[in-house]
Amino acid sequence: TQHAERQHILDTLRLSHEQLLEVKRRMSEEICRGLAKETHSTASVKMLPTFVRSTPDGTERGDFLALDLGGTNFRVLLVKVRNGKRRSVEMHNKIYTIPQEIMHGTGDEVTSFLFLAVFSPFLDSHGILLRWTKGFRATGCEGEDVVQLLKDAIHRQEEFDLDVVALVNDAVGTMMTCGYEDLECEVGLIVGTGTNACYMEEMHNVELVEGEEGRMCINMEWGAFGDSGELDDFCTEFDRAVDNSSANPGKQRYEKMISGMYLGEIVRNILLDFTSKGLLFRGKLSERLKTRGIFETRFLSQIESDRLALRQVRSILQHLGLTSSTCDDSILVKEVCTVVARRAAQLCGAGLAAVVDKIRQNRSLSHLRITVGVDGTLYKLHPHFSSIMRETLQDLAPNCEVTLVQSEDGSGKGAALITAVACRIRDAGQ
Ligand code: BG6
Ligand code: GLC
Repeated sequence: TQHAERQHILDTLRLSHEQLLEVKRRMSEEICRGLAKETHSTASVKMLPTFVRSTPDGTERGDFLALDLGGTNFRVLLVKVRNGKRRSVEMHNKIYTIPQEIMHGTGDEVTSFLFLAVFSPFLDSHGILLRWTKGFRATGCEGEDVVQLLKDAIHRQEEFDLDVVALVNDAVGTMMTCGYEDLECEVGLIVGTGTNACYMEEMHNVELVEGEEGRMCINMEWGAFGDSGELDDFCTEFDRAVDNSSANPGKQRYEKMISGMYLGEIVRNILLDFTSKGLLFRGKLSERLKTRGIFETRFLSQIESDRLALRQVRSILQHLGLTSSTCDDSILVKEVCTVVARRAAQLCGAGLAAVVDKIRQNRSLSHLRITVGVDGTLYKLHPHFSSIMRETLQDLAPNCEVTLVQSEDGSGKGAALITAVACRIRDAGQ
């Protein structure tokens, strides 16, 4: 029957407990390979040392300008950190959406440079951009020290007197922000346009950095998990189609099964397949359905909202230009969204289970209590993502008691806090 045929296809996207355990096991393996000197260069999960060793102690103060280049938005923040009896962080921000021309900067040096000019004002140390992800393609940046590019751009604007202190990944900023209020927060997670995680690792395991004492925050860049084939047996033809037509084929395979930038495309590819097999939309393939990117993250969250009546699902589909839909079509589209988002949340939970279990084993504990600071539009807006992820965590890391805390403006505030700590330490040494 048609029903059986549809379910058969959807079953390829349903992961069993054993499969998820296997994902966790492979992630744990990659974590170790990424940390070790010998295997680091071939590991898909890069495990980048961040040199963030210390969380705020409350004596920091100052005004900081933070630029937060997220996936959905670009924020410029003025962050005022005050010490005293009550620590306080006051923020003013301006939010911009990032125009496509700038993200793609098709060979146009000026555009990409202008982009860098706004992005730049705040980095000391240095940071080589390994690879653009999440749809960015601006030329002349990969392999370059973006901090230097940024500084050059600032210097051309002579009226500014800005000191560039820190280049911070969004997961790290998120962890630091939550860590300011919750001392047990030692993991940061982003589930938005892209996905990534960071956590506090023991220095003696961080083989790329000298020193054995204490801990250091590691930016995992876990979106690249799967790039050496670790996820091949769980990938479907739909995942392969999404990967093939992306800006970075073969890269960020885990991210492409989890984050907001890609879930809508997976859904669209399934719907295309169903339609061409005559299982949906009366077998009529519309031009609209063939159009890339029509299902934005927002759509996945809306369509799965429990309060939504079927009639409304249908009107969302109509709004997307899929006008010939019937009631049954609406039910099926919703089911496809549910299956795809569920798999994403479970895969993400499996990765996180590997991380928290690693921390537990590092500390030789039979039971670990830990807080994870989370940010990202998919996580925040999707009605079921967080609860499914929580369930998976409980299932795969039963010895860890994980509290998930949503962070607001984690990156900007986190970057300012990291800068504040860096300035405190620098000023103390002068
Ligand atoms: C924001 C953070 O709230 O979430 C950003 O401040 C982060 O730094 C972003 O990148 C992630 O979500 P999205 O959906 O914008 O990619
Ligand atoms: C992408 C980026 C990574 C970022 C993540 C979440 O995976 O490569 O640096 O942390 O998206 O925004």
